[in-house]
Amino acid sequence: MSADQYELTNSNGMRVQVLGYGGIIQSVEVPDRDGVLANVALGFADVQGYVDHPGPYFGAIIGRFGNRIAKGQFTLDGVTYSVPLNNGPNSLHGGLSGFDRQIWKCREVEGGFALSHVSPDGDQGYPGELSVTVTYTLTGDNALRIDYEAVTDAPTVVNLTNHSYFNLAGAGSGDVYGHLMQIHADGFLPVDAGLIPTGEIASVDGTAMDFREPIAIGARIRSDEEQLLLGGGYDHNWVLRGAGLREVARVVEPVHGRTLTVLTTEPGVQFYSGNFLTGTFAGAGGAAYRQGDGFALETQHFPDSPNHPAFPSTTLLPGSTYTSTTIYHFATTNE
Ligand code: GLA
Repeated sequence: MSADQYELTNSNGMRVQVLGYGGIIQSVEVPDRDGVLANVALGFADVQGYVDHPGPYFGAIIGRFGNRIAKGQFTLDGVTYSVPLNNGPNSLHGGLSGFDRQIWKCREVEGGFALSHVSPDGDQGYPGELSVTVTYTLTGDNALRIDYEAVTDAPTVVNLTNHSYFNLAGAGSGDVYGHLMQIHADGFLPVDAGLIPTGEIASVDGTAMDFREPIAIGARIRSDEEQLLLGGGYDHNWVLRGAGLREVARVVEPVHGRTLTVLTTEPGVQFYSGNFLTGTFAGAGGAAYRQGDGFALETQHFPDSPNHPAFPSTTLLPGSTYTSTTIYHFATTNE
């Protein structure tokens, strides 16, 4: 197993470690309001940890298709394709051997590095040879930028994301229920018991899904609303306002004062509150990860898009380039 590790640093002391294995963001050290550095990304101390515990997808590049495809089936140009069922009756995060388990090639670029991977035609059942490049760069003001690009030689579907879980008080320091979450979305996608979108875009108004104003993640997580019970907490896609690269979410950890602002070109974000973390393994700092110990904001097209023609399209044709950009911008506040 390749143990290649790449690093981004800046003059504020911020340091990001990325593995060639899965393109995994292994750690993100950022200062708090007193300048004290802590790693805020959940993960393991070495590659073996990720190999042994692939289930949470800590920090990984997700592809070819982020989130779920219902019954592992979709139709493109009249042909039905089957992709692996690795999440009950559905396919999750690209299948049994997704991009999170590939060894990516690295080359330096200005301000960072680019990881690349060629997924052969038929890989995990997906059509077309897909060539993917994911570029990580870090700015002087603590913005970690991820640019995704992909091209194919036959029609296919693509939905790439990064599956980092953050805890702005420090990974392994406890739960994130006191973090204030804000998501710039008026609607979300209700799901069924298998966490597949029903197709409806529901208003967040009057529900526990309303994050239009900052509110603690834990404030309503034990509500008996059906959607929260189905997800075991938050595990839904929000339909983001606007288009182009814009701010879509902001998270504030009030005790240490670290903030995370997420910008993306994507139409959706999966806010996942770490519901499947079970306390059965420990992370890099030695503490076991339990339910709610991290939050993920997975910028993406909507789950199961290939089976929902009304959702923004995830089809990629030969001659076109898939592009996507997400920025995780860290800062501090005295709020
Ligand atoms: C996504 C999914 C969750 C879960 C995690 C990984 O967030 O929506 O249901 O699979 O990935 O554990």
